[in-house]
Amino acid sequence: MSPVRRGIKSDAAAIAQRVADQLSRDAKIEPLVSDEFSRNEFEWALATSASPVWVEDSNGHIRGHLYGATFDDPLHGRQTWSGPDGYSYESEHALDNLCEWAYHEWREQDSTAHLVWALAGNGTQAWVERGYSIVSVRGALALGEVFDFTWPPGHGVRRGTPADLETALAFDALIDLAQGVPLDSLTDQQREANEADLVEILDDPDCHYYLLEVDKRPAAQCVTFPLPPLRGNFDATIYVGSLAVDPAFRRRGLATKLMHTVMNDAISDDFRYAEVRWHINNDEATSLWSAMGFRPTYVQLRRTLLD
Ligand SMILES: CC(C)(COP(=O)(O)OP(=O)(O)OC[C@H]1O[C@@H](n2cnc3c(N)ncnc32)[C@H](O)[C@@H]1OP(=O)(O)O)[C@@H](O)C(=O)NCCC(=O)NCCS
Repeated sequence: MSPVRRGIKSDAAAIAQRVADQLSRDAKIEPLVSDEFSRNEFEWALATSASPVWVEDSNGHIRGHLYGATFDDPLHGRQTWSGPDGYSYESEHALDNLCEWAYHEWREQDSTAHLVWALAGNGTQAWVERGYSIVSVRGALALGEVFDFTWPPGHGVRRGTPADLETALAFDALIDLAQGVPLDSLTDQQREANEADLVEILDDPDCHYYLLEVDKRPAAQCVTFPLPPLRGNFDATIYVGSLAVDPAFRRRGLATKLMHTVMNDAISDDFRYAEVRWHINNDEATSLWSAMGFRPTYVQLRRTLLD
């Protein structure tokens, strides 16, 4: 009989220990991963979570755990997500057992796919062998010296406002396209969700919407905000997202210069790290972020549950 069972309150300490050990191994392999971990908070989160955690229990010794949160995503429907702390396994046999039980439950909740964050490079193989493919990458950079550069004449960066919604929507469509989502494939509901997100970003005092204009014409944008605590991240990390350059202005170094502006602001606001995410099939983004010195920390892998 499979030794997998639902986790109970008294398993929390053993699961927390496994997560702390795994995080510390990840941080030794990739110094841009933080092993900062509060056991108390983690145990409390496990105890109050609505979703079950599965454990592989061999005569009282926990050999692995698997946890996933299932919810609706406006773009992809109902899916299940596991963070870097959502699983551990002593052997691949334990992982197979855990997946078998968890998939059964997730399918019963009408989840269509499982997405999991794994350490870039080392951590992905077991998942790839189980039918997962890499979807996106989390990349980080330690901020150091201020970047010394000047904008050519006619170039100016300003902070966008809710009045720039149309511009932001047009840039957003460029990002969707680069990520393999043609605009006409979006439903009205998805389009409305995107627009609502943008309105919120433009209105949020913690978000900084950068708009680069060349001779008063919008040429590029990006958005930054302080990254909330996230497993594997250091404190004082600025998140940089929604970077896009108008096709007429590409390959002139504008994205690089805009990022230098953003990172100089972040340095003067005492941020120590920057984080970005990109889609694995976005070749321009992959080249840009590595040219700027960002290194992959975690990658997100996805597997359908519809089989
Ligand atoms: C990715 C993007 C922002 C780059 O903007 P850009 O202003 O053209 O970038 P830069 O001129 O600063 O390029 C810097 C480096 O990035 C890499 N790069 C940028 N575009 C590239 C391309 N099409 N092919 C290969 N490498 C590319 C190169 O290493 C380049 O250096 P180089 O020109 O000296 O070779 C732009 O192509 C874009 O808006 N794409 C669509 C939206 C998107 O994918 N955003 C990223 C979301 S994570």
